[in-house]
Amino acid sequence: MSNESNQWNSNFSFLMAMIGSAVGLGNIWRYPYVLYSNGGGSFMIPYIVAIVLLGLSGVLLEYAIGFKFKTSLLEIYGKIKTKFRVIAWFTVLIVFLILSYYVCVVGWDLIYLILSFFKGWGADPNNYFVNSVLQNNPTAGGLVQFVPGVFFSCLVVWFFIWFISHRNINKGISKFSNVAVPLLFILVVVIVGFSLTLPGASLGYTTMFTPEWGALLNTDIWLAAFGQIIFSLSIGMAIAITYSSYLGKGTNLTKNAGIVVASNSGFEVFNAIGVFSILGFMAVSTGVGFENLITEGTGLAFIAFPQVFNVMGGAAYIIGPVFFFCILIAGLTSAIALMESVSASLITEFGFSRKRAVTIICVIGFCVTAIFTTGAGSTVLGIFDKILNNFALILAIIFECVIFAWFYNIDKLIDVLNQNTSIRIVGKWWKYVIKFILPIVLLVLWVSSLVSTLSFDDELSLVIELLLFAVLLIVPFLLNHFAKRKSSKAAEQ
Ligand code: PFF
Repeated sequence: MSNESNQWNSNFSFLMAMIGSAVGLGNIWRYPYVLYSNGGGSFMIPYIVAIVLLGLSGVLLEYAIGFKFKTSLLEIYGKIKTKFRVIAWFTVLIVFLILSYYVCVVGWDLIYLILSFFKGWGADPNNYFVNSVLQNNPTAGGLVQFVPGVFFSCLVVWFFIWFISHRNINKGISKFSNVAVPLLFILVVVIVGFSLTLPGASLGYTTMFTPEWGALLNTDIWLAAFGQIIFSLSIGMAIAITYSSYLGKGTNLTKNAGIVVASNSGFEVFNAIGVFSILGFMAVSTGVGFENLITEGTGLAFIAFPQVFNVMGGAAYIIGPVFFFCILIAGLTSAIALMESVSASLITEFGFSRKRAVTIICVIGFCVTAIFTTGAGSTVLGIFDKILNNFALILAIIFECVIFAWFYNIDKLIDVLNQNTSIRIVGKWWKYVIKFILPIVLLVLWVSSLVSTLSFDDELSLVIELLLFAVLLIVPFLLNHFAKRKSSKAAEQ
C-alpha cells in the first residue's frame, strides 16, 4: 500500500493524525469522571502503570506491525495464518460499529455548538437534552420514532468524514489534522486558562488531586485505569497499524510512540483540570455538591456544562461555543481515524478504490447511525458502547497480542522498533509484556466487565444485546467468505 500518494508527506502529519485519533470524546468527557470515581489523585498511580504497560507497549506493537507489513489488518492477519482473517474481520466490524455510534455523539455536539451561541437549551438543560434533543423514548416504539434534528446533524457529520477521507491521505487526513489538532490544543489552553480564573476553581482542582489511598487496594480502580487507556489511545482498533503502514523508511517509531502517548495523556489530565475548575465554580455558585455535578459522558457535556454556562453570564457566549467546537474537532479527527482503519481493509480485500470504499462505508454507516437517531437511539447507543468497548474490543486486543506473541516471531518486531533510533528501549521486557502480562491483565478486565456488561434490566435492552452479539458472531464469517470469493474471482481473470 505504500506508493507515493499513500505515504505521509511528513512525520509531523503522521503525528498530528495519530494524536487526532487518540484525543477524542474519551479524553474530554470520559477521563474526568473516571478519575473522580476511582480515587481522585491516587488514580494517577494505576493510570501511569497502565500508560506504560498497556498504552506504550500496545502502541509500540501496533506501530511495529504497520511499519513492517505496510498493509491493512486483514492482509496482515491473513499472512500469518489464513484462519486469522476472520479475527481481523471481527476487529474491523467492531471499529465500523464504534464509528457508527461515535458519529451520532459528534452529531449531538454539532447541535450543541449551534445552541451555545444563544444558550438555546433554556433554563432546564437536563429536560432539554432528554426531551427536546434526543426525544428519548426507550421503548420498542421509540425505534421507529424519527428525530429530525439528530438525523440531519449526523448526516452532516458523515458527509464531512466522506469529504476528508475519500481523498488521498495527504490531501485529506493530513491537511485536516495539521490544522485541527494544533488548534484543538490552543483552544483547550484558552478554556483551561479561563477556568482557572473562575471563583471556586481551586475547590475543583483540589478535589481532583485529593488522593484516596485506600482506593489503590481496589482492583476495579486498576481495571478502570486500563479501560481508560484502551479507550483513550484507541488501542486495538487497527488505527495505529493503518497509519504507521503509510510511514516512510527511516522513521523513528519509538520516539513517535512516546510523543503520541505523552500528548494524549497530557491532554486529558490538563483538560480535566479545566473541567474540575469549571465544576468547582458551579459548586460554589449554586451550592450543589461536587459529587452531584460530575457525571459521565453525555451528562457532563450536554447537561452539566450547559448548566454551568447558564450561571456564567456573558463569558459563556464565547467559552460555550469554544468548548463544543473543541469536542467537535476532537470527535472528527477520531472518527476519520476509525474510518481509515475500516476502509484500508475494504481496499485490500475487495479491491475497491479509496473513494469507493469510503463511500460504501459512509452509506452503510449512515444507515446504522440512523438507528441511534430515533427516539430509542440513545438507549441503543449506550448498549452498543458498552458491549463493543467492554466486551468485543478487549477480546480483539487479546487476539492481537496472542497472534503476534505466539504465532509470529515477535523478535522481528523488536528489530523493527529499534531500527531507526539511537536509544534502543525496546527489549525482552516488551516481549514478555505482550506475551504474558497484557493478555492476562486484559483477560481479567474482560471477565470482570462481562458481568457488568450484560444487563437484564428490560426486554428491549436484552433483545438489542442478543442481536448485537449475533451480528458480531456471524458477520465476520460472511465478510470473510465474500472477500475470499471476490479475490479468487479476480485471480481467475
Ligand atoms: N480515542 C478516541 C477517544 O478517546 O474518543 C477515539 C475513540 C475511542 C473512539 C474509543 C471510539 C471509541 F470507542
